Amino acid sequence: MTDTFTEAPATYPASVEFAAQANGTEALYREAAADRLGFWAKQANRLSWQTPFTEVLDWSEAPFAKWFADGALNVAYNCVDRHVEAGLGERVAIHWEGEPVDDRRSITYAELFTDVCRAANALTALGLRAGDRVAIYMPMIPEAVVAMLACARLGVLHSVVFAGYAASALKARIDDAEAKVVITTDGQYRRGQAVPLKAAVDEAVSTDTTVEHVLVVRRTGIETPWREGRDVWWHDVVDSASPDHTPQAFNSEHPLFLLYTSGTTGKPKGIVHTSGGYLTQASYTHHYVFDIKPETDVYWCTADIGWITGHSYVVYGPLSNGATQVLYEGTPAWPDQHRHFEIIERYGVTIYYTAPTLVRTFMKWGRDIADSHDLSTLRLLGTVGEPINPEAWRWYREVFGANETPIVDTWWQTETGAAMISPLPGVTECKPGSATRPLPGISARVVDDHGNLIEPSPEYGEHASGYLVLDQPWPSMLRGIWGDPKRFRETYWSRFADRGWYFAGDGARYDLDGNIWVLGRIDDVMNVSGHRISTAEVESALVGHAHVAEAAVVGASDEHTGQAIIAFVILQADRADGGAEMIEELRAEVAREISPIARPKEVHVVPELPKTRSGKIMRRLLRDVAEGRELGDTSTLLDPTVFEAIRAAR
Ligand code: WTA
Repeated sequence: MTDTFTEAPATYPASVEFAAQANGTEALYREAAADRLGFWAKQANRLSWQTPFTEVLDWSEAPFAKWFADGALNVAYNCVDRHVEAGLGERVAIHWEGEPVDDRRSITYAELFTDVCRAANALTALGLRAGDRVAIYMPMIPEAVVAMLACARLGVLHSVVFAGYAASALKARIDDAEAKVVITTDGQYRRGQAVPLKAAVDEAVSTDTTVEHVLVVRRTGIETPWREGRDVWWHDVVDSASPDHTPQAFNSEHPLFLLYTSGTTGKPKGIVHTSGGYLTQASYTHHYVFDIKPETDVYWCTADIGWITGHSYVVYGPLSNGATQVLYEGTPAWPDQHRHFEIIERYGVTIYYTAPTLVRTFMKWGRDIADSHDLSTLRLLGTVGEPINPEAWRWYREVFGANETPIVDTWWQTETGAAMISPLPGVTECKPGSATRPLPGISARVVDDHGNLIEPSPEYGEHASGYLVLDQPWPSMLRGIWGDPKRFRETYWSRFADRGWYFAGDGARYDLDGNIWVLGRIDDVMNVSGHRISTAEVESALVGHAHVAEAAVVGASDEHTGQAIIAFVILQADRADGGAEMIEELRAEVAREISPIARPKEVHVVPELPKTRSGKIMRRLLRDVAEGRELGDTSTLLDPTVFEAIRAAR
């Protein structure tokens, strides 16, 4: 991938000091390569098993894997009880920051233990038994984590639904999972305002529902309609419940949770994860990729628990490792743009993991904000969710990381459960824009339509891209789509069915050093005159221009070239009304940075980009605009009104 800092170094080895103390070593790769299953057995044994496993992997019914199948463990015991038993009860598990300033509390592992036991007893009293499903629809408050762990403790499957989703999306997820209980809050804070949340649950369960009880945490005190018999206050039933609860061990393949994610059709897919394999890989990756030192680190993953990142790297990874972490309820801009930096400063955050889109937002706000805070405690940074353009990567390292810290660019998916491709900090040389190579124990490759490896060569050219596939099963792999085994096979296992490979849905390429560059979802890879060009690559070139704050690129049908590249850009504040000259300059910039074939046919200056609530740009909708169609489903948009502004700008 090209970038504008041609004089900047191509790779960033970790400092000698970092490498000397790192959890990861080069030997880990060799160990895993020599005996992959033995390696995973060793990682699984970082956990505490009530019944030890004897078999590592059963792949005889592929693509339905069984990992550690004859073992039994309790996931919540591994995340909480065992740390207390080891004498670490006084360690802080969660430094919680509410959205309102000065609303904060710290919760030790001993306190978390009591809370989880009480909640488990309360859920049992509501009639829940192992195998039942519970929907959790809550803001980022400690009770949300307690609720997830209480379910795990009981072998009840949680289905966390992001609290920004509307009632209809919540209902679809409740109904598909046939949830018996919904756990929610009366309201939530949105930029200083208390707004109702339970009201959406009331709407979702008003007709034809499997839901028997709605368990409600009082968060805001906002007035809340109540249905006697069905609705239950958390403080009534949890606070009074017994703090004694003996965890029962469940089979390794007992399902732990469902998490709904959008697919190519309108109906969300309930991704199924199970216990032993999932926790093994969440815990292992958290230990090595984040180099966690539980005694000294203060770790902060900014993801919401509504997404897989919040499951694996807020709840199960860090807690299984006995880490101390920050949990923040609000947005980065409340009450002002200093909030994240203040939190880093207040708790002395050492490891910070976020999304590239937020890094670019910080860039747009300008480095003065970051520079007015002491960020010197940070020693490791991470990103997830989308490709990070090298420009943003370098800014992040310079401004957050004092030009010293490694950055782990972690590639994975809801379906993979845990990180798959990422640098090992202290071992791998980081390369801006590349997730580098598969983690020890993981196998991935980039292939063409026929499954042949695509490597940079005179034949393919240096930028040849292909499909990213996972050619070996891994412990935290999804075990299916809830209630739809056929869709599971078709979605992930049909493209390379004869080889038995999982197709991730992403395009990728190798560079000359053998590093993997993930280029984005395959439907975001454009084909212009027979050349494959990634939207991410063009965006990176645009964002590399000094006057561009953000960019989104789509391929629109074109009768001459198959697809044509259409770009939507937000300019830096002082350039907000870029004229025809600026547009020509940007087109030329892309041609310069990548190739004339990548020159956008159109560049539109817009005030906003359409994003999902998790910060992903909705290119599908931009394609609709670019091709002059009616807009498709806009229900997952953060702000459905952005299109009026975008249309006006065209
Ligand atoms: C994209 C998030 C490039 C990718 C954990 C994947 C990435 C999708 C990266 C999954 C990365 C995630 N570099 N692209 N480091 N991480 N992606 O299910 O397209 O919300 O398929 O899981 O995000 O998104 P999901």
